[in-house]
Amino acid sequence: MTGRTPEEMRERVLLWEEGIRADSALYSRITRGVAENDQILRLIQVAPPGQLEMNLLLGAVQYLLIADPLQPLARWYPSLGGTRIDGDVMAEFVPFVLANQEAIIELIGTRRVQTNEVARCAFLLPAYNLVGRLTGRPLALVEIGTSAGLTQNVDRYGYRYVADDATVELSPASPVQLTSNTGRTVPNLARSIPNIVWRAGLDLYPIDINDDDQVRWLRALLWPDRVDRHRRLEAAIDLARRHPPTVIAGDAIDDVAGLLATAPPDAAVVIQHSYVLNQMARADRERFMDVLDGLGAARPVYRVGAESLTRSPRTTLDVTVHGPARETRVLADVHHHGAWIRWERD
Ligand SMILES: C[S@@+](CC[C@H](N)C(=O)[O-])C[C@H]1O[C@@H](n2cnc3c(N)ncnc32)[C@H](O)[C@@H]1O
Repeated sequence: MTGRTPEEMRERVLLWEEGIRADSALYSRITRGVAENDQILRLIQVAPPGQLEMNLLLGAVQYLLIADPLQPLARWYPSLGGTRIDGDVMAEFVPFVLANQEAIIELIGTRRVQTNEVARCAFLLPAYNLVGRLTGRPLALVEIGTSAGLTQNVDRYGYRYVADDATVELSPASPVQLTSNTGRTVPNLARSIPNIVWRAGLDLYPIDINDDDQVRWLRALLWPDRVDRHRRLEAAIDLARRHPPTVIAGDAIDDVAGLLATAPPDAAVVIQHSYVLNQMARADRERFMDVLDGLGAARPVYRVGAESLTRSPRTTLDVTVHGPARETRVLADVHHHGAWIRWERD
């Protein structure tokens, strides 16, 4: 329980709405409706610290609807076959939340925002290629906050980078295809698949893609009116069942060293995290960076981060070399689901 006033909650919820407005008209409407409902604003405060309450509320509601798609509210959810667009969605959303309060409070209080968005690979790929270019070595990928591990399969997906002057396609036969607009041109770093020879991920709460309930939670976290994301998730899970990622239960700070020690010695180590640091307290983020600096003293550690840690919904993609002299290079501003990349330089 966060103990925030309704005014503070309203501000948090409306800030979250700004970030998703362009991607989900349905969630934008619902979120603005929730901002005016003090009862729901109070209810969602059971979210654990560091978690985005609105994300969890909407996830909890869709999670329940997946099991009961004949509910009137589901008619607004294209992910569940719904086709309603006009009218007052809050007239169905609020009664649904209140009628299912107990289950929703339980879900918000115990689940985490663990959205595993493979489309983020569209901006991770050029960052990995940068490390490959800087080191001349194949890559060993350690993903922190890997969720179900789906972004570990970055080299098994197909890419379509669309720019004003060209379109570049990579692996067009892959069952998972990702499209990203790169603005004026397609950077050289987005023109090849990185050479990843080893990969593993850590998560506080690993998601098992062979567990139906956990997959249901992953589905529930996607915007219902982005059916393309639902299809992509299904295809990525299908591919991951054939190429299972290594997903280990553990903590960024305590367990990264042990995992890194198992990486092949001749590969360049890439530590990756996307949308993870916002779930860690500021002091823990700093400790995590210090741990990586320590590890970087023995062997170069390249960290690729895609995080949105400011009040604006911007996401920054950067690469940091950890060691005695930590150095960060900002690569791009990116859309949180990879729809576009605004590259700083190639
Ligand atoms: C929003 S998800 C992002 C998943 C994935 N990186 C992506 O972009 O698709 C954040 C994940 O970070 C994990 N996480 C948060 N704090 C962590 C920590 N201290 N150590 C390991 N994992 C953590 C959460 O459990 C969650 O699965």
